[in-house]
Amino acid sequence: MARPPREVVRFYSRVGRLFEVWGRVVDSRARARVQELCAGADGEAVLEVGVGTGSQLVGLACANPSGRTVGVDLADGMINESRRRLSAAGIANAEVLRAGACDLPFVDDSFDLVCSIYVLDILPWDDIRRALTEFRRVLRPGGRLVLCHVTPGERRRHRIGDRLYGSGLPLTGNCRGIRLTSLLKEYGFEQVIREYGAQLLMPSEIVSARAPVRG
Ligand SMILES: C[S@@+](CC[C@H](N)C(=O)[O-])C[C@H]1O[C@@H](n2cnc3c(N)ncnc32)[C@H](O)[C@@H]1O
Repeated sequence: MARPPREVVRFYSRVGRLFEVWGRVVDSRARARVQELCAGADGEAVLEVGVGTGSQLVGLACANPSGRTVGVDLADGMINESRRRLSAAGIANAEVLRAGACDLPFVDDSFDLVCSIYVLDILPWDDIRRALTEFRRVLRPGGRLVLCHVTPGERRRHRIGDRLYGSGLPLTGNCRGIRLTSLLKEYGFEQVIREYGAQLLMPSEIVSARAPVRG
């Protein structure tokens, strides 16, 4: 049974880097692919939603030395850890704010790239819809969206993960498999491309898309 969003955020505040160690076992390939898809021109405005311990954020900021890279999260433990990590890496052009996916504190059309990995799969569907509305709002027309999350297994052996990840066991971080391509199209995102892969028990969906060009 899924736990309420506030409880989930408390959980992430407590687990900090422990979560990262577990994650590396089941999602390192997906993370590497996300970094490839996020690679863009230096000088962009980049937002990561739900930064966790900040490993992805450091990669995004390093690839964007003349740009602006911003991360948000709701869990104080994760915010502190990601700030510590940016500072340890000597990165000055990135910051982490306390904010949620459904209520982003940025004006319209602020970002060239929004990315969020293993976050939407822990949100209730109403919040996923709110988050996609926010991602579309803060992206400039034609801006890039890159998402990665746990998805239902497409091969028999990957479905063991569905049961594990749907169980709400603490190690699984309360996520469950979701598919987002249809929803993205419903929200007007264009050039929606889906990639599927699984590592050990965990099937992931990576989706890239472009924000609608408003006419
Ligand atoms: C599974 S972790 C993923 C962290 C990071 N993206 C990664 O892959 O390492 C989920 C993160 O989303 C954060 N989170 C949960 N609900 C959120 C929300 N509504 N808005 C922003 N972040 C949220 C949690 O605090 C946690 O840091």
